[in-house]
Amino acid sequence: MLELLRRFSGGFRRYFIIGPACKLLEVFFDLLTPLVIARMIDEGVGTHDAGLVLRYGALLIGMAVVGMCFTLVCQKMAALASQGMGTQIRSALFRRINEFSYAELDRFGTPSLITRITNDINQVQLAVALGVRQLIRWPFLAVGSMCAALLIDLKLGLVFLISTPLIGLVFWLVMARCVPYFKQMQAKLDRIGLITREGLSGMRVVRAFVREDHERERFRAAAYEQSAVAIAVGKLSSVLNPVTFLVMNLGVCAILWMGGIQVDTGVLTQGQVMAFVNYMTQTLLSIVYVANLVVVFTKASASASRVNDVLDCEPSITDDGNEPVTLPSASDVERGTAPAALRMDGACFAFGDAEVNTLDRVSLTLQLGQTLGVIGGTGSGKSTLVSLIPRLYDVRSGSVEVMGTDVRRWPLDQLRHVVGIVPQRASLLSGTIRSNLTWRDAKATDDELWAALAIAQAEDFVRKLPQGLDAPVEAGGKNFSGGQRQRLTIARALVGNPLLLILDDSASALDFKTDAALRRAIHQRSVEGAAGGALPLTTVIVSQRVSSVRDADLICVMSHGSVAGLGTHDELLASCPLYEEICLSQLKREELEGAGAATPGQAADKEAAE
Ligand SMILES: Nc1ncnc2c1ncn2[C@@H]1O[C@H](COP(=O)(O)OP(=O)(O)O)[C@@H](O)[C@H]1O
Ligand SMILES: [Mg+2]
Repeated sequence: MLELLRRFSGGFRRYFIIGPACKLLEVFFDLLTPLVIARMIDEGVGTHDAGLVLRYGALLIGMAVVGMCFTLVCQKMAALASQGMGTQIRSALFRRINEFSYAELDRFGTPSLITRITNDINQVQLAVALGVRQLIRWPFLAVGSMCAALLIDLKLGLVFLISTPLIGLVFWLVMARCVPYFKQMQAKLDRIGLITREGLSGMRVVRAFVREDHERERFRAAAYEQSAVAIAVGKLSSVLNPVTFLVMNLGVCAILWMGGIQVDTGVLTQGQVMAFVNYMTQTLLSIVYVANLVVVFTKASASASRVNDVLDCEPSITDDGNEPVTLPSASDVERGTAPAALRMDGACFAFGDAEVNTLDRVSLTLQLGQTLGVIGGTGSGKSTLVSLIPRLYDVRSGSVEVMGTDVRRWPLDQLRHVVGIVPQRASLLSGTIRSNLTWRDAKATDDELWAALAIAQAEDFVRKLPQGLDAPVEAGGKNFSGGQRQRLTIARALVGNPLLLILDDSASALDFKTDAALRRAIHQRSVEGAAGGALPLTTVIVSQRVSSVRDADLICVMSHGSVAGLGTHDELLASCPLYEEICLSQLKREELEGAGAATPGQAADKEAAE
């Protein structure tokens, strides 16, 4: 908590000074009030002087109004400080999360990050607001009341000296037990967040598979766990109020008892005894409020450390000090001196701290303008392999080079501009088609956007939309079909002229004809680019379909994270049994050996039959 305050309180110092200062003035008036009442009772009520009672009454109202003005100023300072700091912390957290590589995102998990940026920061904000408003108030009120009471009469003060530590002790015992529960509660809340998120985003699938009962049960269990902790805390703290009031009222009895005797003997006045009772109640109530503060601060400190964990987590993928990479020119390509577009050398990778490599010693080289096909079963590591190219993850050992430079030596912006990736899961953000297409190049012209859409085989359906490029896209692109979404994400990767295009199973929702047309258009673009003096487009196509990769210059067959075969279609047919097996499962024997691509119709029939 302190760490977070140190980091973010900078701009808010004046609120932290003015607020509590106003509060102190208010406390001063609060402490004065019982004394004024005592006078009112002794001088006014005692002597039946109505005029005096009214004057004292007016004084009390005046003091209350002035006190309230100070309170208002303090409230305002508290609001400014807590909301201001909350906003800054939230922005800093969001900025940090955006710097994270996939590895850190995997580590924290999205639901937990969401809870941290919402609920945890709320807790911190609450603590800051209460800190400004009350942290000073209650201790001062308690100590001030105690001093004032002792000044009135030392003997009655004994009641104070017994009852205050008694309540303090009870609170200490209870709070010490509650604190560990608060941390647990936060973790349970994370879990509820996770289940809610999964349940809501997967609602359609859940329905389709009639898993509602299962999901409901899962949620119920998580909610129950959270409530069990909350109830445990509730039970513990439920003793607090009765105990406080018991002690307080016994104290009042004692004071009235002992005070009554002293009034009789003329040592104290009635007003003084009343003031004493007032101070006593104020002190004990202060302890209750201090305990509340302790609760808020403990929760906030648990939350603050969760926020700090994120802020302190350095992104593992950074490009500090990397100089911009000089790209090869078209003449380099002509003279044959251009570096390989993509080179992997013994690349190994594992998620998190896993001991077993998800990718194991992958080595391959792809020249500029060539096409690499990556094929293999689900879970064989194809997506993981291509995610190393734009450096979404870093290799554990070995290296990945793009245009002859290790990806770790590229400035990330430049690398990700040169590499256009279409992730396996098409993701669109709410906005328009245009706003979704211009991610890689904010200044792309309409012509460029249409050209990209044309290559991605998306031109037709976008042209049919009444608003064309400005047609609205709903969150997650759910107003488009899976195939349309895929084509839009392909178009997005093509805007801004990438040199290396990665399609990660991006044609899975496209029919064979569209898939083939897409590959032809990409090839066309590469050839035209090269003819126009630009660098030819290099493509990596990840697919489970043989028909999508069979024409590639190089095919990489993945199996359990390792390369099971590397070569052209014909070479692999002869040398790689796994490849042959995949081919046989998808194509007829004669198609396999026949030159050129299978006719889309036949392959589609085959696929439909499976
Ligand atoms: N974020 C992740 N955290 C941990 N394991 C993962 C993650 N993503 C993928 N994996 C695992 O890595 C392996 C390869 O996954 P992936 O590259 O997505 O396969 P493919 O794309 O070939 O279907 C799988 O066993 C999968 O369970
Ligand atoms: Mg994949």
